[in-house]
Amino acid sequence: MEDLKGMGYLPHQATPRPRPLKLAFIMLATASYCLAMMLYYLFWSSSHSHTGTTLPINAQAIVAQCRALHLIPGPPDNFHSRRESDRFVPGTKPTLIRNASIWTGLENGNEVVYGDIFLDGGLIKEVGSVDASKYADRELVVLDAEGAWVSPGIVDLHSHLGVDSAPALNGASDTNSLKGLVLPWLRSLDGLNTHDDAYRLTVSGGVTTANVLPGSADAIGGQAFVVKLRPTAERSTSAMLLEPPFSLNGTHVDANQRPRWRQMKHACGENPSRVYSGTRMDTQWAFRQAYNTARILKEKQDAYCEKALAGQWTGLGDFPEDLQWEALVDVLRGRVKVHNHCYEAVDFDGMVRLTNEFKFSIAAFHHAHEAYLVPELIKKTYGHPPAVAIFATSARYKREAFRGSEFAPRILADNGLDVVMKSDHPVLNSRHLVYEAQQAHYFGLPANLALASVTSTPARIMGQDHRIGRIIEGFDADVVVWDSHPLNLGAAPKQVFIDGIAQFEDPHVSTKPKSLQRVPTAPNWEKEIADAIKYEGLPPLEPKTTKGKAVVFRNVGSIYLKDSVGVKEVFVAESKGGIVVVEEGQITCSGSCPQALLRADAIHLDLEGGSISPGLTTYGSPLGLTHISGEPSTSDGPVFDPLNGPVPSIIDGTLIKAADGLVFTSRDAYLGYRSGVTSAVVAPMARGFLSGLSTAFSTGAAHKLVDGAILQEVAAVHVAVSMSSRVSVSTQIAALRQLLLGGGKGEVQTYFGDVADGKIPLVVNAESADVIASLITLKKEIEAASGKSVRLTIAGASEVHLLAKEIGEAGVGVIVQQRPFPAYWEAKRILPGPPLTASSAIAELVKYNVTVGIMVEEQDRVRNTRFDAAWAALESSGVVGKADALALASTNLEILLGVGERDDHLVATRGSAFEGKVVAIMSARSKSVHLV
Ligand SMILES: *[C@@H]1O[C@H](CO)[C@@H](O)[C@H](O)[C@H]1NC(C)=O
Ligand SMILES: *[C@@H]1O[C@H](CO)[C@@H](O)[C@H](O)[C@H]1NC(C)=O
Ligand SMILES: *[C@@H]1O[C@H](CO)[C@@H](O)[C@H](O)[C@H]1NC(C)=O
Repeated sequence: MEDLKGMGYLPHQATPRPRPLKLAFIMLATASYCLAMMLYYLFWSSSHSHTGTTLPINAQAIVAQCRALHLIPGPPDNFHSRRESDRFVPGTKPTLIRNASIWTGLENGNEVVYGDIFLDGGLIKEVGSVDASKYADRELVVLDAEGAWVSPGIVDLHSHLGVDSAPALNGASDTNSLKGLVLPWLRSLDGLNTHDDAYRLTVSGGVTTANVLPGSADAIGGQAFVVKLRPTAERSTSAMLLEPPFSLNGTHVDANQRPRWRQMKHACGENPSRVYSGTRMDTQWAFRQAYNTARILKEKQDAYCEKALAGQWTGLGDFPEDLQWEALVDVLRGRVKVHNHCYEAVDFDGMVRLTNEFKFSIAAFHHAHEAYLVPELIKKTYGHPPAVAIFATSARYKREAFRGSEFAPRILADNGLDVVMKSDHPVLNSRHLVYEAQQAHYFGLPANLALASVTSTPARIMGQDHRIGRIIEGFDADVVVWDSHPLNLGAAPKQVFIDGIAQFEDPHVSTKPKSLQRVPTAPNWEKEIADAIKYEGLPPLEPKTTKGKAVVFRNVGSIYLKDSVGVKEVFVAESKGGIVVVEEGQITCSGSCPQALLRADAIHLDLEGGSISPGLTTYGSPLGLTHISGEPSTSDGPVFDPLNGPVPSIIDGTLIKAADGLVFTSRDAYLGYRSGVTSAVVAPMARGFLSGLSTAFSTGAAHKLVDGAILQEVAAVHVAVSMSSRVSVSTQIAALRQLLLGGGKGEVQTYFGDVADGKIPLVVNAESADVIASLITLKKEIEAASGKSVRLTIAGASEVHLLAKEIGEAGVGVIVQQRPFPAYWEAKRILPGPPLTASSAIAELVKYNVTVGIMVEEQDRVRNTRFDAAWAALESSGVVGKADALALASTNLEILLGVGERDDHLVATRGSAFEGKVVAIMSARSKSVHLV
């Protein structure tokens, strides 16, 4: 029986992996201790018998210090017999979680225990079948999980939470020091802001522990610290630390005891060389110079200790020390987990050489977009192969990330390397770290490793796997009760325990379909995986047309189509699944179509119960205006902003058209297309207030002159009103008022006149509820003057839910991100959704009949639009249905952005319309079917 497996785990059984190491360590430590003691007593007696050798007064301390230099970090010997956690908060009641499906993290992540968990003293005390009568005299909190999944708390190996603050304010930006390329003496702890908005949000995603790293502006940015994310009674940064290294808090430690693990940030490649206007060569030299300094100091210490331990005290002097270099010396002594931000083969190669030259190991290569292409190189790192800590699908944002692949987690695992998914918070909102694991699983990483990649593996890589990352008796009581299997899209915690403390007093839970309690099945990507390797990360992505041929889809489960107002489900198969025939890009038969199965002239595709649904639209990223957002020479570039400086007279009075700057065939556009995002609306890249005229185009087109490449040359007029601008909000609103009242020149005057007349929508990027309120007032003012209805769309709109009713009444449309984040003060008041709030912003707006679209800010995430739409439905507790979810990213966007020339693409997915694999894309307008 499976639930018996969880019974009676003894700590030493529970940590099979470190065991041989631990034994070896204990033997070594004991041996060196005995040796040292022998030597010590030898010298002691000899110093008394020989004149000429003077034993220093602190000889005993020196001998202890010298002996301690060779101790490898780890928990104290008696750690696993602890009855209470050092982080236990007195007064915390014991908790019994009943009837859970417990993913323990044991057996390489394959063990599931169906049973109970008992939390007491800040520890997991029992896993399996718990006899509650034993605790009759205790005041137990009992939580009936009703079969729900329980996992260990999520562990983030790479976060800047608390140092790169949310909301971003000048007074709380402590990620990067610019005082030099090599700063191993800095400590992220010194910048850890205790008031960051992201702590609670991140915990609401099930994340319980984070490794807070300094940034990547420096080659050696400083020391990182592992913290637990719950609030503490002390309200101090130090109280958040998990097993801080000795010396940090001034405690004088027993030199016979192992030290605690330390963590340090290294970075190579673009970031340090860019910040210091240097090159990769300069960065690498900075590393070598630093390590050479540390090596010289270490050798002095070792020589000193050799003499001290041999009793040669004469003229020995003081132990060689240097406060600035001690941490790097500790790296050379194997006592620091080095976290190395490093992307490309050229940089791995440099680091691998460095580790072999100076003989130190690296805990993990982070970001590491090319690691999957050079696994054998990674394995040449001194000591042991580093883990590889990566994003799932975030890539191509700069040159060194260009060859990043969604299949990297799977390929790395196939090569026997440890895979960790990380947030780099706030680069990715760490609240959704488990989403990274979900995507890694979707793209081929086995479920056991996907869950391990955010729990047990990062815990081991940071040297904390004796207490976190798995559900084992004696481990810290950090557990998450989920509303669905955590590898399912949209999975949210029903409750999160840290150190046995429930983090939410009254958590909101959205009802999920029963099917989401199962481990999701991932599509088959074997061909794509092989191609990623074959083409060194740049497999050809151009769509292949099958013009002229009919396509017969079998086992079609459902069909969704656009109508005049939205998306409707027009067909749901009964048991067996329907047939759909597509000729010249158009559906010519759907339902039973018995003759179709016999057609020899057609291409036959089995959708395995999947769907045919409208192609989606994307808005919000520069997709269509750039290939690599971090490389200006691959982009259309920003427009002049009249509120931010002079506009050259030659274009004064002109509204810039995005259509003039379109770039086609970017990898993100093609990946979007292949994921069923068949069209995009993009506005000129703005530096501030004025953007220009957006255009709607097809993401799969080869260039602008191809038939159907441009859906609509001009879609809407775009401006932005922001509190982060260099001019005041009131100035920006005044400028907009002037333009709408006819104050502009030439084309500017014409287009804003059309806005005032309701002929073309005005899209305003705005986050703050106060700015949005001013825009609603302005809309009314203009309408009173013109007598026409102004079509206003607010995009961004992080705080819009505060005005849902007023927005609904004013007939204003809204485009929001599906997952809000308080990145700036003006976006602080988000509606985060379950478990923090019952409702999400999207659900709230839908209740007031507001037309809502979803936007994607980063173009590499355009491909995940289907996931965003599905997620919006999943967290809405039924307010947003499946067809509505598709409308959020298709018809609603077209309406809100003024796209009358609708995208007519249809997308066939093997598996669900949201999480299946796109296999064909059809367009009646271009009479084509593209097979993916
Ligand atoms: C556990 O929960 C499941 C799902 O709600 C239920 O079917 C089962 O009967 C429960 N078992 C116990 C022992 O309560
Ligand atoms: C300092 O840290 C060590 C190691 O975690 C701990 O044993 C000790 O109690 C701490 N001392 C103080 C004063 O907090
Ligand atoms: C939304 O629209 C529906 C249908 O037209 C209507 O019954 C309902 O009252 C509207 N709700 C609000 C809040 O305006």
